[in-house]
Amino acid sequence: MDFSSFAQSRKSVRGFQKKPIPKAIVDEIINVAKWAPSSYNTQTWRVHAVTGEALDKIREGNTNNTLAGKPHQRDFPYKEDYEGEHRRRQIDVAIQLFEAMGIARDDKEKRMDWMLRGFRQFDAPVSLVLTYDKHLEPAAISQFSLGSLAYGIVLAAWERGIGCVINGQGIMQSDVVHEHANIPDDESIMICIAMGYPDDSFAANDVRSTRADNQDFVRYVGFE
Ligand SMILES: Cc1cc2nc3c(=O)[nH]c(=O)nc-3n(C[C@H](O)[C@H](O)[C@H](O)COP(=O)(O)O)c2cc1C
Repeated sequence: MDFSSFAQSRKSVRGFQKKPIPKAIVDEIINVAKWAPSSYNTQTWRVHAVTGEALDKIREGNTNNTLAGKPHQRDFPYKEDYEGEHRRRQIDVAIQLFEAMGIARDDKEKRMDWMLRGFRQFDAPVSLVLTYDKHLEPAAISQFSLGSLAYGIVLAAWERGIGCVINGQGIMQSDVVHEHANIPDDESIMICIAMGYPDDSFAANDVRSTRADNQDFVRYVGFE
């Protein structure tokens, strides 16, 4: 497949087979992704590849904290109350996912189950936790570089038949992730990527999100 078709074929995967990913494959994926650009080639990223008992403990801690109503806690300042078209797109993809999963708008129980699934990192066999050194804060440039690495990881995994969902839910209780993945306090946890072999019978995996037309967000300056 050429790159254009390949990039357009990728989608987030939120249901996985109970099949482990060998460490060698995870390493191969990271080997490809690390050719992502970074500011001044500083490569300020770190990757903690987590599986097995450690990942199960993170799922459990995230779930317990969520059920106990513990506020989200991330390692960096952020704001995510979207407005206008951003909010509309956020709602649109949620509607697509809920429709696929047969979750009615007023079904609080199923909505809660879906949310908890996210906090369990979608029961994926592997999670890659991306961090950077805290002393780089305010770290917008490093965060940008981690974004380029994350997309490289997702594409390299997709090429190998492995699906991913980049997700904030898995690291919203960052102390849980620090503790069970043994991530030092002088690293800021940016994001995680849940990955595994897609479960083709999982309805949400069929969701194809939409994209705005270029004319809605691109300006051409100085072109004919
Ligand atoms: C920074 C970031 C955070 C995300 N967090 C979540 C999340 O917490 N839960 C989730 O289900 N998807 C999450 N996603 C996946 C997006 O919802 C998804 O990429 C978007 O809807 C577009 O769909 P696609 O990846 O299938 O093209 C996240 C993606 C990014 C880039």
